[in-house]
Amino acid sequence: MLGEWIGIDQDPHSVALVNGNHRHNCVRAEVGSVRALLTGKHDLGKFDLIYAAGLYDYLEDRTATRLTTRLFEMLRPGGSVLIANFLPTLRDIGYMESFMAWHLIYRDERQIRNLIGGIDSAAVARTETFFDEPGNIVFLQVDKP
Ligand SMILES: C[S@@+](CC[C@H](N)C(=O)[O-])C[C@H]1O[C@@H](n2cnc3c(N)ncnc32)[C@H](O)[C@@H]1O
Repeated sequence: MLGEWIGIDQDPHSVALVNGNHRHNCVRAEVGSVRALLTGKHDLGKFDLIYAAGLYDYLEDRTATRLTTRLFEMLRPGGSVLIANFLPTLRDIGYMESFMAWHLIYRDERQIRNLIGGIDSAAVARTETFFDEPGNIVFLQVDKP
């Protein structure tokens, strides 16, 4: 059963849009940053599923690794962290960088797997990587026992 979805983003406009559109159901958004999560200033509690979409493409390896460890700590027993990252083989990178000045941090399967480096492997039940159907995005799933 779905209890509650909590969305986090540093952009107050995005957060207000989500809260405005989903006022009567179990979705809620909060303004929050990676930094606040890492420093413990934003304590959201524990979760069964934590999904980071469209975020890791902006994070350098060191921050991405620290965040992965922190998100894993925020899981309930049996919970999962799911992280998405654009692949370096994305065909549109040239267009995005040249015409949109949109510079992302791309990761392949090995690079996204390295992000679990800060987690004690004995505390992990299962790690899996997989791809979206067009092959643009790699996903990392880390499960807690
Ligand atoms: C490409 S959008 C993805 C939005 C949404 N998560 C989705 O999947 O549709 C990237 C989002 O990451 C947020 N963001 C980037 N760096 C962040 C940070 N350090 N802390 C919190 N949010 C961040 C931006 O505000 C932006 O809304």
